[in-house]
Amino acid sequence: MQGMLQPHTFKDKTIIITGGGTGLGKSMGKYLLELGANLVITSRKMDVLEKSAAELSDATGGKVLPVACDIRKYEEIENVLRQTEATFGAVHGVLNNAAGNFISPTERLSHRAFDIVVDIVLKGTYYMTLAAGKHWIAKKQPGVFLNIVTTYAWTGSGYVVPSACGKAGVLALTRSLAVEWAKFNIRSNAIAPGPFPTEGAWSRLLPGDLVKKFDPTERVPLKRVGDHQELANLAAYLLSDFSAYINGEVITIDGGEWLRSGGEFSHLEAIPSSMWDMLEKSRGK
Ligand code: HXC
Ligand code: NAP
Repeated sequence: MQGMLQPHTFKDKTIIITGGGTGLGKSMGKYLLELGANLVITSRKMDVLEKSAAELSDATGGKVLPVACDIRKYEEIENVLRQTEATFGAVHGVLNNAAGNFISPTERLSHRAFDIVVDIVLKGTYYMTLAAGKHWIAKKQPGVFLNIVTTYAWTGSGYVVPSACGKAGVLALTRSLAVEWAKFNIRSNAIAPGPFPTEGAWSRLLPGDLVKKFDPTERVPLKRVGDHQELANLAAYLLSDFSAYINGEVITIDGGEWLRSGGEFSHLEAIPSSMWDMLEKSRGK
């Protein structure tokens, strides 16, 4: 649960984090600041961003620029890039972390409900990516993208279908541009986190009593949720030059959760030792 990189890993580097004022974005940002980065945090709510920026720079002594930006609006993203350059001189990395999500049977969704999630997750991510990519290519500058997806980006998942569609698109974006933009020295990678408690995710995905009924730790072979520092360590590594040869990769950090649900016999965990003893004795009879 401790930081793993050298303290000056991000000295003179500037990283933009979408959705950087709350939850996992804020935690990853804090660690990047501890490693010497300048940080730009963006989301729609300026009051939340300003409060988090003050908190983060007080805690780390690092520089944080909050910029309001709805990632569904391309001009607002261009403004983030302009402000970042004006304040810090250059952008070195983009952490596409912002998302929207809620649970619902799909047949109950209106087309507007579908749109709202896909627009944040997929359109927001490709807008940010396109704007930053054009910026780096025009300036002949290297860059790195890190996209936060989910483990259901490749399996799909009922009850969060707009999110699954959006995240699958982000996964395709990650892998496609890893190849196409490598010639510009722009890398693209992704992280697929399992359950990491945040107010944003828990309030929307496990509302009310659901958190007691569907304890996420039960689904994880390691029988615990993730610690934010564990994710921050991985994110910092993938944004840093230490991972310079990793491109187009998606790293899962979920304690084994998604593989367990795919394993055809994983449910045999429910068999007690006494029954295994009986089965062993009756073997071959
Ligand atoms: C069905 C819903 C709904 C729900 C809204 N809608 N909530 N439909 N079930 N729970 C419908 C509305 O009826 C409306 O359609 C349309 O969606 C837009 O509604 P709004 O009121 O404008 O939406 P609002 O609730 O204000 O915003 C939704 C949101 C918001 C944009 C997704 O919750 C948000 O800002 N989220 C950002 C943060 C977030 O979601 N964090 C969690 C990420 S967690 P009609 O037809 O009525 O107009 C995550 C983790 C994944 O991604 C993996 C975990 C392991
Ligand atoms: P969160 O705190 O709710 O983070 C979502 C962030 O996105 C918020 O800061 C929100 O800020 C921002 N955002 C939403 N719509 C936006 C828009 N249109 N423009 C700009 N910013 C917008 O939830 P979280 O759990 O930390 O999630 C962070 C990321 O991790 C997401 O990509 C999520 O899918 C992923 N993830 C989380 C978990 C988990 O267990 N927590 C698991 C797997 C994947 P505003 O409301 O101010 O705009």
